[in-house]
Amino acid sequence: MRVSSLPFIWGARAPHGGVRAESRVGWARRADGGAGVRIEPASAVRGDVRVPGDKSISHRALMIGAIADGESVARGFGASADTLATADAMRALGATVELDGDTVRIGGVGLAGLTPPAEPIDCANAGTLLRLLAGLLAGRPGRFELVGDESLSARPLERIAEPLREMGARVETTDGHAPLVVEGGALHPIRYELPVASAQVKSAVLLAGLQADDGPTTVVERWPTRDHTERLLEACGARVRRSPREAAVWPADRLRPLDLDIPGDFSSAAPFIAAATLLSGSDLRLHGIGINPTRTGFLTVLDRMGARVSLFNRRKVGGEPVGDIEVAPAELTATDIEPHEVPLLVDELPLFALVAGLARGESTVRGAAELRVKESDRLETVKEVLRPLGVRIETTADGLRVRGVPARPRGGATVNAAGDHRIAMVAAVAGLLSREGLDLEGADSVAVSYPEFFAVLESLALR
Ligand code: S3P
Repeated sequence: MRVSSLPFIWGARAPHGGVRAESRVGWARRADGGAGVRIEPASAVRGDVRVPGDKSISHRALMIGAIADGESVARGFGASADTLATADAMRALGATVELDGDTVRIGGVGLAGLTPPAEPIDCANAGTLLRLLAGLLAGRPGRFELVGDESLSARPLERIAEPLREMGARVETTDGHAPLVVEGGALHPIRYELPVASAQVKSAVLLAGLQADDGPTTVVERWPTRDHTERLLEACGARVRRSPREAAVWPADRLRPLDLDIPGDFSSAAPFIAAATLLSGSDLRLHGIGINPTRTGFLTVLDRMGARVSLFNRRKVGGEPVGDIEVAPAELTATDIEPHEVPLLVDELPLFALVAGLARGESTVRGAAELRVKESDRLETVKEVLRPLGVRIETTADGLRVRGVPARPRGGATVNAAGDHRIAMVAAVAGLLSREGLDLEGADSVAVSYPEFFAVLESLALR
């Protein structure tokens, strides 16, 4: 990834609309091409903010739009390196995708219309793209090769290959990883119990189930995971049956195009919520954020710790619950996160580690071994970022133990995001909270989900 493709933020817009003359966060190009930023301590985060459209829904809108009949439109699309890789993949398969501001128009080719491109499909860093696409292609005749970057190529794929084979597709992984070859064909429905709590695996099986010869294809989950695929399939007219632990889909001949407003991404809002909770002068409002209960476990956990986060103006947008979020500062006490809660805040657990580091008492996370196979081994990378700052954090085989101290961590170190966007954002918030600030290497990884992250953070931070 090149730093020049990222926003240059010395001129970040201040909340009142002016431009800060002197910004404390800036990109510096390093000799090895990576991007470093200096994060200075802050006294508060203040203002009103919107975040880009939900990444999980943006990926799905593109994929489901591509197999619908006719033109789909999605407003509030979250453009990022990950979702743009999905747009390119859909184009390579024969759909059209046009982006105008944050509105995306997708010319769908119908369920039977996706055709194998001559070249491998590049899924870049996007696990959601690779895994859901394998499900989408499992029922399509032809040979499809899916490849990814170094991080994606280290992530497990047998978890999707196995159920898709059970349905009748030929799926080959490379020792369990990408490159992945799918040779699709006639599929039969299955009833599949998820061995790991994963919305990506659930979604891959459901998308394949749309194309099975008879219905229904059922996914059984021990603990609920995000349900955006089910909601979007319902919006397209597919027959879907849902209960708290099961989702089933029937084969469809055609899908109606989408006309969708995508809510703000809760996972992109979460770093600001953490910063506003922990910086004593803060006063922050976030508007139009997706508050689907399968995504907001972080709010439940913060509430238990004593945070002052209010939800108001609740509404339904594009079949998803949406609200505005107001955050006031609070002193937090420790808590334990149990395995069944993990899927509901899976992408916010690194941020939880930071929050727990400033809470009174010892916090733990159990049942989170999945964090070891995300964009980085997030149990280790979050420890490697937080420890040098003075946070007392240890890893276990499937979780974390954090001995919190309700005071600003020391900071003053150089830390590395390990190429992982969520780790970069945790480090940035940690820098604001610290006494001495920090230098962050690999900051450009935020472009994977939220290219404007540092500019927005800087516009909210008071020093
Ligand atoms: C996602 C599901 C989660 C999450 C990822 C996005 C999705 O992964 O960590 O960032 O869009 O379905 P798993 O389903 O593999 O846990």
